[in-house]
Amino acid sequence: MNRTATWIGALVALGGCGGQEPPAARSVPMAATPPVDPHSFARPAEVRVTHLDLDLTVDFEARRLRGTATLSLERAPGAGELRLDTRQLEVAAVTLHSEGRAEDQPGGEPAVFTLGEESPFLGRGLTVALGPATTAVRIEYQTLPGAAALQWLEPAQTAGGRHPFLFTQSQAILARTWVPCQDTPAVRMTYEATIRVPPPLVALMSAENPTAPSADGVYAFRMPQAVPSYLLALAVGELEFRSMGPRTGVWAEPALAAAAAWEFAETEAMMEAAERLYGPYRWGRYDLLVLPPSFPYGGMENPRLTFLTPTVIAGDRSLVALIAHELAHSWSGNLVTNATWNDFWLNEGFTSYIENRLIEEVKGAEYAEMLRALSLQDLEDELAGLAERDTHLWLDLAGRDPDDGMTSVAYDKGAALLRLLEETLGRETWDAYVGDYFDRFAFRSIDTATFVADLEARLLSARPDDAAAIDLQGWVYGPGLPANHPLPESRAFEAVDAELARWRDGAPAAELATAGWVTQQWQHFLRNLPDPLPAAGLADLDRAFGLSTSGNSEVLSAWLTVAIRHDYRPAYPALETFLTTVGRRKFLKPLYAELARTEDGLAWARRVYANARPGYHSVSTNTIDEILGWEESGRKQAG
Ligand code: BES
Ligand code: ZN
Repeated sequence: MNRTATWIGALVALGGCGGQEPPAARSVPMAATPPVDPHSFARPAEVRVTHLDLDLTVDFEARRLRGTATLSLERAPGAGELRLDTRQLEVAAVTLHSEGRAEDQPGGEPAVFTLGEESPFLGRGLTVALGPATTAVRIEYQTLPGAAALQWLEPAQTAGGRHPFLFTQSQAILARTWVPCQDTPAVRMTYEATIRVPPPLVALMSAENPTAPSADGVYAFRMPQAVPSYLLALAVGELEFRSMGPRTGVWAEPALAAAAAWEFAETEAMMEAAERLYGPYRWGRYDLLVLPPSFPYGGMENPRLTFLTPTVIAGDRSLVALIAHELAHSWSGNLVTNATWNDFWLNEGFTSYIENRLIEEVKGAEYAEMLRALSLQDLEDELAGLAERDTHLWLDLAGRDPDDGMTSVAYDKGAALLRLLEETLGRETWDAYVGDYFDRFAFRSIDTATFVADLEARLLSARPDDAAAIDLQGWVYGPGLPANHPLPESRAFEAVDAELARWRDGAPAAELATAGWVTQQWQHFLRNLPDPLPAAGLADLDRAFGLSTSGNSEVLSAWLTVAIRHDYRPAYPALETFLTTVGRRKFLKPLYAELARTEDGLAWARRVYANARPGYHSVSTNTIDEILGWEESGRKQAG
């Protein structure tokens, strides 16, 4: 375990919607119309956005983006209305444009438009009446200071401390809080953007990026591959670029740039492994962006530029499965996209499966097996607390926040199904199918039924015995973890179990054979400590292994969870520091939930949260507010 570094110091097959048919997909049952996306007001079968031109000024003082979004349209015969998603946007004007590029007629023609009733988390539909010749619509607008996708950081919340920072998080349905768009993963568009920022700040997007700051603060971006709205992304801050390989590099605040470039040096090798397995990387470059610690996720697969939490910089490259995961989305998710958020497991299950395959290539089979064992335990733990309907792979999230579907079911149950397919059908057959699947459905959005039908038609129908053993329908549309799930067996974890048993039998922690243990072994150790656990035992562990001062965010958060559960007070200063500096929801959620189990813990948590909350992204405060029963005045501000 690395103890010198501090975690922050060192830190659709959609007929009529998808464009071209996939060449060999005739056997796939095609939906005549796109599946209805319960999380969007758009009606892409009538009028569909094909290209976005953004021109935005970033105003840090007002905490607003201001400017225009010009949307190029494709219209079905007779369709006269464009329907868009918006939330928390102030629309100043809408104009209609015809012929060629809208830029050629800056004035346009004023449009008649209506904003619908506000719905919780969906926002307001924007309906624009089109003229007979309208080919583009321009919307002049500004965002609200509390826009859910945007996090505006004070200089003090950055590593450098001198400049403010802004980043976006659009997935799942937050793009509509900073760009009026058809905010459904069933619609793909190319985009261009002009972003104006105060120098010397750098602006970066999920697009072709600069490699140096612009003197006047004006940045031009181009994204020539069509992407869904949830992959629109922007970050602005004091950022520096380090090259890591011919196609890979990392952006980070200057203080973190060297550590980041060292930590992620295996990225190019991961790309090569992914291409060997699944075909060419189709996005040009693959760069990383290390964000300030309030970033609410581990990573976000913004095309060409993955957004990352700094908590993945452990100083020993032990947490880079997250890079493998976000890179894998370049195939599963960004290339072949879930058609609606009900099909989220298609994005995350495939990606978690591929993540593990890439880790096997780069770190070896035993390492990959440890990660699968940890995932299985995560899944079993989470399944125990989920409502049955949330344990299916395909979900019906109509009327709910798509965020509710972001559980380990999509990730780990999804990956377990794909691993079962691999083990049953044979790696060679299965890999060939997956590579072919990415090819045939490239740059399209597909739903679960389309995937199931494709797999049945291409592989399972010819192998009835395998198909019966797998029970695909039961896995996808049924509850829980089916009994035929693969069972990882990790020898490295057996060694940990042996030491755990010795400690339970009275051996002092300092005498355990832990030399050479990797992060995942420590995670396994901490998850499997006996319960109950006396304070003296906790002190023994902390003294021997320096757990409260661990520089590894996964080890530290696992330890802090144990400390809360057993009320080990000496760890609370470290807990408070962690909660007030890290905004990654995956870490915050179990810690606050564990605290909330006792009255004293809840009171302590609320005191810390009052202080920490202004530094968290809305994604995290939404979750933690609920855990702590937090009511913030102005919280419901502008929906
Ligand atoms: N695309 C997700 C993050 C996401 C999902 C954001 C749904 C908003 C809505 C990303 O690829 C992801 O899965 N991140 C994980 C990484 C982990 C599983 C390796 C995370 O942030 O923890
Ligand atoms: Zn993911």
